[in-house]
Amino acid sequence: LIASTTLTSFASAAMAADVPSPNQYYWPKGMNLAKLRAHDAESDPYGADYYTNYHKKFEQLNLQEVRKDIEKVMLTSQPWWPADYGNYGPFFIRMAWHNAGTYRAIDGRGGEEGAQQRFAQLNDWPDNASLDKAKRLLWPVKKKYGEKLSWGDLIVLTGDVALNQMGFKTLGFVGGRPDDWQSELIYWGPGTTFFPNKSSFQVGQNGTLKHPLAATHMGLIYVNPEGPNGDPDPAKSAQMIRLAFGRMAMNDEETVALIAGGHTFGKAHGAHPNSCLSGPPVANGVEHQGLGWADHCIKGKQTADDASTSGLEGSWSADPIHFTTQYIDNLLNNDWVLGTSPTGAHQWHTKTDDKIAPDPANPNDPSKMRPIMMFTTDIALKNDPVYHKILARWAEHPNEFADAFARAWFKLVVRDMGPKSRYFGSEVPKETFVWQDPVNMPAKPINQADVRELRKLIAATGLSDRELIKTAWAAASSHRVTDHRGGANGGRLALMPQNGWAVNDPEELKTILPKLEKVRDSFNAHSARKVALADIIVLGGSVGIEDAAKKAGVKIQVPFAPGRGDATQDQTDVNSFNLLEPTADAFRNYYRADADNTPPLNAMVDKADTLGLTIPEMTVLLGGLRTLDINTGHSANGVLTKNPGALSTDFFTNVLTMDTRWEKVAGQEDLYEGFDRASGQKQWTATDVDLVFGANPELRAVAEVYASNDGKAKFYNDFVKAWTKVMNLDRFDLQR
Ligand code: HEM
Repeated sequence: LIASTTLTSFASAAMAADVPSPNQYYWPKGMNLAKLRAHDAESDPYGADYYTNYHKKFEQLNLQEVRKDIEKVMLTSQPWWPADYGNYGPFFIRMAWHNAGTYRAIDGRGGEEGAQQRFAQLNDWPDNASLDKAKRLLWPVKKKYGEKLSWGDLIVLTGDVALNQMGFKTLGFVGGRPDDWQSELIYWGPGTTFFPNKSSFQVGQNGTLKHPLAATHMGLIYVNPEGPNGDPDPAKSAQMIRLAFGRMAMNDEETVALIAGGHTFGKAHGAHPNSCLSGPPVANGVEHQGLGWADHCIKGKQTADDASTSGLEGSWSADPIHFTTQYIDNLLNNDWVLGTSPTGAHQWHTKTDDKIAPDPANPNDPSKMRPIMMFTTDIALKNDPVYHKILARWAEHPNEFADAFARAWFKLVVRDMGPKSRYFGSEVPKETFVWQDPVNMPAKPINQADVRELRKLIAATGLSDRELIKTAWAAASSHRVTDHRGGANGGRLALMPQNGWAVNDPEELKTILPKLEKVRDSFNAHSARKVALADIIVLGGSVGIEDAAKKAGVKIQVPFAPGRGDATQDQTDVNSFNLLEPTADAFRNYYRADADNTPPLNAMVDKADTLGLTIPEMTVLLGGLRTLDINTGHSANGVLTKNPGALSTDFFTNVLTMDTRWEKVAGQEDLYEGFDRASGQKQWTATDVDLVFGANPELRAVAEVYASNDGKAKFYNDFVKAWTKVMNLDRFDLQR
């Protein structure tokens, strides 16, 4: 298998090459704000409007023309990476699957959108070996369509074209994935080595995998084909598959459909041993032009028989460039024996080793036929009783298999795109799935005059500013930009499981929501235009904030854009929504000391990252919200103001002043007391996520802006902007 690289050896190499090292290199436990810098548009060559405009550009494409261009590339073998059987289709499917398969349901990170597979480290993962060539083959198509076709969409469309060309009917193609321009900083695991190094294994003794991870090895998309940490034990391998595919939001049936569907096509490549290959793209010289895994054992003209990728070798089917049920039939109808590939990797062969599969370089030469093979992960599907039952049913009913594969593939490649309203193009399937988190939009939405009336009705409920603001925050801040799920839209704050999350103070919420629902019902009773609870919750936040600013003697307007809908409980998959529950929300000074939880400061940056906030936006929001007194459990921690409930810059002035002496509270992990230096009187309590705005130099620099005598107007302006951004994170209609 591909050589593993020690992560720290890259760091040492950077040091040796006179490259500036991030502070993290010297103080690994220090706070790293780098993630939040990615939310600035500056590194995007198309500028800040790219995200907004991409969809319009994409709509100009003639998808049929693009499909033809891709198909031409697929069926034209190139001498620098010859196509197996003259068809790059299977290779392209693997590329699309690996781009999508990084998706993690727990934090929504990974997935197709952004096309992160173009960048280190994903591009360099041992599991993505050779896929650098797949993307390079597609460059002429990308070049032709430029800004109109992102890499993310091109990769998915290519997978779709490949499946169609080889005789499989997909549900349809969805576009709308704007590209990233830099490698996203994602926590992929604690390991310092990549697969296949034994220490890259991330699963604990009792089969646990730390949240939010999904891959069982650092450097793999999901599981080791040879079995957990190279142990060719199909039963243990099945456990790993269930764990890893479950983290990708796939159930047993979807998992089997994907693996059986995928391995119907193509082959594994292990012509030469690992020692023949150079490092991954990131470690190769510039003369390789961004390609890795150069094979110096190839002598003479390269053929399809020369390819080395995983080190395993062979196809699963005797017809690897057509959609058939052969994978299932071959798996179930043969006795499989453990053996090795030419490079020594564990793989399984049939007892008779019949030569029934074509040679990739000479597919029409009967004298060169080869035996088929299976991985330990494939045998795992046969041996596991639940997976086996599914396979046996599909062997009898091939149409059910095709249907299940089509649905699972569609979910795989669009799961990280969020709701259906983010889908683009003329080929979007009509069917709605519960995993798309559907929302019902009012047939006749409200207008600005209605908003004025609703503001009055909300003010008359008697709900306090604090109650209104914290309710709006609870709803909107459940959004995560990583996979565009959650948010105020849908009004799911009133539904299970969100209405029971500890961070939302469920008992208090029970007293607030009925009053807002009453506003909705009384308005809808007399108006032809209908308002959703989701709109009322967000509008309530605007009403509360404007009033809270008034209490500080400042008149502000918090913009409100109507246009949300509500969902029903039936449209809400409780288990899948539970994954959105915050275990920490620094903006409400909430932290749950779960075993899997990251320390409070990391959790704060992570939450800000999932809200798509920049460093100044995080700072102004957190400081402003503290003065609004909306902490979970109404805790006083970090409420550094004598006038709680009035929107002010007090948090910043009081966290920066030298008049306060801070002391850690004995026996408490994350609690501090602030004493007036002159009188010795205790004034405040605070947590890590409060005091870091005085302690961390970068956050202190931003806090100083708002604490300065001339910073007030900027504070109100920036606070309202950042607040509105969070309220509208799921308003994809406004972003276009
Ligand atoms: C090939 C592993 C699931 C599609 C391969 C290869 C490995 C592998 C090691 C050979 C790579 C090479 O040497 O070229 C696994 C494992 C899986 C899994 C361990 C999960 C247990 C899937 C899924 C799909 C898929 C879900 C798609 C839906 C493919 C295709 C190929 C392939 C099409 C052939 C590529 C080619 O011909 O170049 N897989 N895979 N695999 N895989 Fe998977």
